[in-house]
Amino acid sequence: QTGAFTFDPGFTSTASCESKITYIDGDQGILLHRGYPIEQLAEQSSFMEVAYLLLHGELPSGQELDKFTYTISRHTMLHEQLATFYRGFRRDAHPMAIMCGVVGALSAFYHDSTDITDPHQRMVASHRLIAKMPTIAAMAYKYSIGQPFLYPDNSLSYTGNFLRMTFGVPAEDYVVDPVIERAMDRIFILHADHEQNASTSTVRLAGSSGANPFACIAAGIACLWGPAHGGANEAALNMLREIGTVDRIPEYIARAKDKNDPFRLMGFGHRVYKNYDPRAKVMQKTANEVLEKLGVDDPIFDVARELEQIALKDDYFVEKKLYPNVDFYSGVILSAIGFPTSMFTVLFALARTTGWVAQWNEMISDPDQKIGRPRQLYTGATQRDYVPVGKR
Ligand code: SDX
Repeated sequence: QTGAFTFDPGFTSTASCESKITYIDGDQGILLHRGYPIEQLAEQSSFMEVAYLLLHGELPSGQELDKFTYTISRHTMLHEQLATFYRGFRRDAHPMAIMCGVVGALSAFYHDSTDITDPHQRMVASHRLIAKMPTIAAMAYKYSIGQPFLYPDNSLSYTGNFLRMTFGVPAEDYVVDPVIERAMDRIFILHADHEQNASTSTVRLAGSSGANPFACIAAGIACLWGPAHGGANEAALNMLREIGTVDRIPEYIARAKDKNDPFRLMGFGHRVYKNYDPRAKVMQKTANEVLEKLGVDDPIFDVARELEQIALKDDYFVEKKLYPNVDFYSGVILSAIGFPTSMFTVLFALARTTGWVAQWNEMISDPDQKIGRPRQLYTGATQRDYVPVGKR
């Protein structure tokens, strides 16, 4: 019994692993990172603080945070040869395809941090991944719009550096808007880790074979891309745009309830949350703040809020315990800031890299860890003898 709720360690019968990093109570809509509620971290912390917390288990002191932030800043640049790698893609390549390829290739450039038996190399690889994801993401965006790459500027914050590499141009200075910087930092916090979701489980399974950390994170990026998972933020905004106006919402609610229609309400429902996703509440509040600050009167946001209100009163969604998840409002904010929908899952992967490397470190540093080997329920043919083709 801890605090206001009964602490359920998890589904011991079906647990895929033990972990000390993130706790979710899907029925109560609770999400804790190393014991700290996501609402408090999103409101009061910074993404660098949360990255340190996930990796090391405690919130850093001021001195520890400065040292960690400085260490991360030492790795923000990308090997110059990798810029050539980008130029091998078509300009219209999906940025997630580029991110998968570039991250998977990192072990070819940073071979001195691929020995998973060396704790120092494991931490260097983790710092490199956290530090380079904003550079890789920004370069994927720049490449897609035909603009030159910008090098990192370590005089800026982690998130400010990312915004400048993404939206800045060599021809003029880029001034980081503190409201946008705070909103993006909060969005990164909300996406940092989420227990054993599909992509984190992919990273752990890949890591259990002893694969290098860069390959494991590339595997996680590939899994996250799916529309049922991290790709839902891109799909949710595309859905809101397709709905277009509030009066068309009932048509889509009906489709989402029709078992013969494959359409699902993107940004709704969750494998674990059968209550409101606590991240979605913070995301909606952030959307309000950003749209107000930018003076954006986006009808899409009105459609999102009305859609939520209608769905939350609809018997089908109430009975199925379907609530907005982290992906429902994030796209409204990202679109208002200026990101194309193709970059939404890239941003999710950028943030989730901190959770992935924390979970990978937790697993790989366990001396008793073994290679993952899920079993199956066999429902195929019983044993039978071969029949030569002439007799078939
Ligand atoms: C993320 O695991 C994580 O932690 C993931 C994540 C993270 O941080 O890593 O939180 C990030 O992936 C969030 C989820 C993003 N995906 C979407 O928003 C896509 C739309 N949502 C669905 O595809 C769906 O809700 C899933 C995939 C998320 C969950 O699907 P399940 O396992 O089928 O959900 P369920 O068992 O709770 O469904 C109960 C019923 C089912 O119908 P029946 O079989 O009972 O008849 O509700 C239906 C589902 O078909 N249903 C939906 C629905 N989601 C579930 N019906 C309409 N619209 C939806 N969105």
